[in-house]
Amino acid sequence: MEISPRFTFAICIIQSLFLISSAQTCKNYTFPSKQVFSSCSDLTVLQAYLHWNYIPSTKSAHIAYRASQSSTRWIAWAINPTGSGMAGSQAIVAFRHANGSMAVYPTPIDSYTPSMQPGTLSFPVSNISAIYADNETTIFAVIGPLANGTTFNHVWQEGPVSNTNPAIHSTTGPNVQSMAKLDFQS
Ligand SMILES: *[C@@H]1O[C@H](CO)[C@@H](O)[C@H](O)[C@H]1NC(C)=O
Ligand SMILES: *[C@@H]1O[C@H](CO)[C@@H](O)[C@H](O)[C@H]1NC(C)=O
Ligand SMILES: *[C@@H]1O[C@H](CO)[C@@H](O)[C@H](O)[C@H]1NC(C)=O
Ligand SMILES: *[C@@H]1O[C@H](CO)[C@@H](O)[C@H](O)[C@H]1NC(C)=O
Ligand SMILES: *[C@@H]1O[C@H](CO)[C@@H](O)[C@H](O)[C@H]1NC(C)=O
Repeated sequence: MEISPRFTFAICIIQSLFLISSAQTCKNYTFPSKQVFSSCSDLTVLQAYLHWNYIPSTKSAHIAYRASQSSTRWIAWAINPTGSGMAGSQAIVAFRHANGSMAVYPTPIDSYTPSMQPGTLSFPVSNISAIYADNETTIFAVIGPLANGTTFNHVWQEGPVSNTNPAIHSTTGPNVQSMAKLDFQS
């Protein structure tokens, strides 16, 4: 059978429509809790999304970081106020315990072999919570006041949990590409 160019073209259109409609974006995501965030960013790797409201008067951001994840692994989102990669980043980590309760806490990443235990960040963080639903983990938090303007390097990550502790993440592929610049006022 001869396949006409027009037919091939139609197939391409149908395929691209399908790709567009199946691609998830953060813009029209509705939170189960009905929280509304005015800004969001589709992060480049690890099927992750950052949503936020920035409040200039308090130099604070209400954030929701969500990422596709299995219920037995951790996710983390961080600002690195002094560099661009992992070392020095100020993280919030979350995972689900076997009993279904969520662990979620701030943890400063002071080296390339961090303890990932609860700690104090270099900026205030409050109202931390996390949920696991629909194969996604979401971290909610209020961060700030933030010094040094509204543009930051941020880092996000995921890895396995071992004996109720976050264990080392993969050091190849998407897990080493998960960093970007972020402007809370964009
Ligand atoms: C988001 O919008 C796109 C395009 O308008 C649509 O195809 C998709 O189903 C929407 N997703 C959600 C979760 O509403
Ligand atoms: C602001 O930037 C300085 C210089 O990079 C850094 O030492 C400091 O930790 C930053 N402060 C905060 C709160 O991020
Ligand atoms: C669930 O398991 C974690 C880790 O073992 C424990 O710290 C926590 O207290 C448990 N929560 C409940 C409600 O049993
Ligand atoms: C943090 O949570 C408390 C208690 O739920 C609430 O009263 C307060 O408004 C929250 N703060 C922010 C900045 O959302
Ligand atoms: C969650 O993941 C499982 C396994 O991949 C899949 O079968 C299921 O449909 C997913 N559920 C949702 C709500 O996406």
